[in-house]
Amino acid sequence: MFRTNTCGELKITDVNKTVTLAGWVQTVRKFGSITFVDLRDRYGITQLLLNETLNAQLETNPLGREFVLQASGKVTERSSKNVNIATGEIEIAVERFTILNKSITPPFTIQDDTDGGDELRMKYRFLDLRRNAVKKNLELRYAVGRSTRNYLHENNFMDIETPFLIKSTPEGARDFVVPSRMNAGQFYALPQSPQTFKQLLMVSGYDRYYQIVKCFRDEDLRADRQPEFTQIDCEMCFVEQEDILQMFEGLVRRIFKDVKNIDYTEVIERMTWEEAMWQYGNDKPDIRFGIKLNNLKFPSHTFADKENISSIITSDFAVFNEAETVLAICVPNCSDYTRKQTDELVEWVKRPQIGMKGLAFIKYNTDGTFKSSIDKFFTNDQLKNIAAACHAVAGDLILILAGAEEKTRKAASDLRMYMGTTLGLRKADDFKLLWVLDFPLFEYDEDGNRWVARHHPFTSPKPVDINTMINNNPAIENAAEYLKHPYANIKANAYDMVLNGNEIGGGSIRIFQRELQEKMFAALGMDAEEQQHKFGFLLGAFEYGAPPHGGIAFGFDRLCSILGGSESIRDFIAFPKNNSGRDVMIDAPSTIDEKQFEELQIRLDVK
Ligand code: AMO
Repeated sequence: MFRTNTCGELKITDVNKTVTLAGWVQTVRKFGSITFVDLRDRYGITQLLLNETLNAQLETNPLGREFVLQASGKVTERSSKNVNIATGEIEIAVERFTILNKSITPPFTIQDDTDGGDELRMKYRFLDLRRNAVKKNLELRYAVGRSTRNYLHENNFMDIETPFLIKSTPEGARDFVVPSRMNAGQFYALPQSPQTFKQLLMVSGYDRYYQIVKCFRDEDLRADRQPEFTQIDCEMCFVEQEDILQMFEGLVRRIFKDVKNIDYTEVIERMTWEEAMWQYGNDKPDIRFGIKLNNLKFPSHTFADKENISSIITSDFAVFNEAETVLAICVPNCSDYTRKQTDELVEWVKRPQIGMKGLAFIKYNTDGTFKSSIDKFFTNDQLKNIAAACHAVAGDLILILAGAEEKTRKAASDLRMYMGTTLGLRKADDFKLLWVLDFPLFEYDEDGNRWVARHHPFTSPKPVDINTMINNNPAIENAAEYLKHPYANIKANAYDMVLNGNEIGGGSIRIFQRELQEKMFAALGMDAEEQQHKFGFLLGAFEYGAPPHGGIAFGFDRLCSILGGSESIRDFIAFPKNNSGRDVMIDAPSTIDEKQFEELQIRLDVK
């Protein structure tokens, strides 16, 4: 046998056994005539003791870090034990060893706190993957995948592969395209998701489908986005929204149990999109902490059924009077913020990423008095009224933003998150799930003065809104008043699952009738010809007994990174791309040979 044991399993109870291990040299420590070697493999580290005779061999053949070694010997009890590692009570009294391969000095040391920078780690990702910290992340990813497969299998879902060389499926991003040699001048697109295929599988009668599948999107990258990423993609027939929510609540509860040993038994909160925007200014709110928005003023058409309390902030203060929206948050126990601290907050909201002109604050001191940056414009009683409208209590610091609706709401949400982080309210090991429901079906695209699907064009409207969709002309006559168009109020039969302020999954009940699907495409500006060209296969399939269906897809990498307590999904992908979409290890993308261009019949005019 090449090896009898791994480097992570031998214990005091194995003393006197003769074993053979194989692995990589972590460290070599010479003590006079003997040498200690820490041998590492995927499972752990075991200390080897090389006696005088073997040491002589090292004189001619010295060992170095990351050499590959096979060593046989007897398990013995250590004289000085290391309680920090599982094998710390024993060592191997080596009788013979073989250097299986040498290693040149690695560009960074293989340990938890590596001295390699990000670029170096990515260039030598195969070495980075030897580090415990990265290995733990991949183990977690594997565990999430296993748990998912078990749960879905137990619930009758069938794993079916769908093709990677397809025609473009619009999900809002750009496609990656692949030229076809056999069909010169034509291109495949890599799937942004298997959306249309999984719907076709429903038409075929595979009533519960899933796939843990790669998706490709050519979009700007962020910490939680990669150009190729993985989804847990699912679809079901003969379901309503509630069936899907329950099935996939079951999945995440199971993952929590299997992977984190957490019994997530509490009710998973549900919130409409409108309520999320109203209370948090965000469609994926982090509900681990409060500090909700107080809507002191807002344009009447955005939240038609909410009470406007703008009279409370009426004074000579032009900034509030002229603003479309005024939002306030109460930060608990921060009324004692110093001038320096409040100045820093003002600078924070003025950063280009937030882009506000300023920030007003009211300190509701613990003695009940008020001190504010707007004292000149408001009497003490007026400040008191604002505080009351914000449900503030003594000790709170009230932060107020004013400006245009969309920008101000986003800024207030960002400020809320920033304060949550500053106050330590967003703990990585605290998990709060949330469903956000009833999204608008359409979004307005200013540049094209037209509607775009907020989720994707296959999402159905709420049943009560179907007639509004069918009976109204989608054309937008007056761009400035697009919010008054009946389409602006149509709600989608769609849902997102949010974990700690991250969208970990999204899905919808689908359109399954040809007429409604055609109406949807038309609303998005596609004429009959374009519909037929792009989606003729789907429209056609809907005529052959398409069942009612719906589904969801979870961002697998994202889910793993949050469960692993990290913001960046790259740490949970074996071979990720960097922020410019490059794989710096294999150096991709790269140019191709002239011969390949010729075969593909592509002419490149780029010099
Ligand atoms: P959606 O586009 O919402 O839905 O994607 C589903 C989930 O995938 C994750 N995700 C990403 N993760 C990493 N990098 C990216 N670039 C990236 N883009 C998306 C998110 C997101 O919630 N076909 C539909 C699903 C359906 O309707 O069933 C779809 O793809 O966590």
